[in-house]
Amino acid sequence: MATVSVFSRTFRVKFKSSSAHFIRGIASSSRLHSHTRSLKEFSMANKVAAVTGGARGLGNMFCRAFIEAGCNSIAIIDLHEQEAETAAKALIHEYETAGAVQRGELNVIGVGCDVASEKSVQSAFGQLQSRIGRVNALVTAAGIVENFPATEYPTPKIQKLFDINVHGSFFCAREVAKSLLGHGESGSIILISSMSANIVNQPQLQTPYNASKAAVKHMASSLAVEWAKSGIRVNALSPGYMMTKLTEKVLEENPKLKESWHTLTPMGRMGIPEELKGAIVFLASDASSYVTGSEIRVDGGYCCV
Ligand SMILES: NC(=O)c1ccc[n+]([C@@H]2O[C@H](COP(=O)([O-])OP(=O)(O)OC[C@H]3O[C@@H](n4cnc5c(N)ncnc54)[C@H](O)[C@@H]3O)[C@@H](O)[C@H]2O)c1
Repeated sequence: MATVSVFSRTFRVKFKSSSAHFIRGIASSSRLHSHTRSLKEFSMANKVAAVTGGARGLGNMFCRAFIEAGCNSIAIIDLHEQEAETAAKALIHEYETAGAVQRGELNVIGVGCDVASEKSVQSAFGQLQSRIGRVNALVTAAGIVENFPATEYPTPKIQKLFDINVHGSFFCAREVAKSLLGHGESGSIILISSMSANIVNQPQLQTPYNASKAAVKHMASSLAVEWAKSGIRVNALSPGYMMTKLTEKVLEENPKLKESWHTLTPMGRMGIPEELKGAIVFLASDASSYVTGSEIRVDGGYCCV
């Protein structure tokens, strides 16, 4: 079957022509335009959001989804302050230039933070209230993946992966919860897990990553129960294979993987970051007010087979 190039905000992606029409529709329907009607429960107006790993990839798409759902106050938290600030300025410029927001309406800031370091997380979240307000919608998208056979996986790399993916999610969730609990306010925390929390990816070897994402998923359930009566909801969002720098790097090292990924995914293709916008806004907004401790999988059906 012929392949067709489709432009997503993040990547130019080649799809089989049967999927291309549909994907092109998603990518273009997410271009900026005004909506006349939508469910008010999905509005992110009056929410204050923080997204770790927001300088690029899925995290950056979550920031875009929040802006398009009405959110005006967002902190992009990422490892390098310069990249976080550049991404923040780029979003303001893009939405203002497109006329999707008024000039000065968006307060998007970039904050440098290593989520693996508790001190760095405390310092980053400590400055948010005075700069954007009290965070009541947190997404922890900062994460890494590496592929090694278990017997050859360097131990310091395993520790680093768990420090970022697992401890990083915990440190950030805890800072936001402490602030909300201290003021008796409600909020929504979304931990980015992965379909790898539920299945074992093949053929690439990534046991520590899979285990880290299973830990993140169960962390969401555990924190959800711990904070349920205080109005803080915690859920996990688990993507399947999505086209970002993270998967691009894996595919560069092993280009043959792509065909296996397509074959193993019932929908026969990878996802594009835009396809997570609905799920993230649902979980962050009041549309999911009775949803806590859940996992939403957005994986093209991967976990069903
Ligand atoms: N892309 C996929 O197919 C896919 C699938 C399932 C789950 N996920 C998860 O989604 C999340 C985002 O993935 P992505 O594809 O956008 O990856 P990405 O590599 O494109 O982006 C990750 C971001 O996290 C930041 N980051 C890395 N280490 C950090 C640290 N110590 N402190 C702060 N920021 C740090 C990076 O700078 C980068 O901006 C990850 O947790 C990943 O495991 C991705």
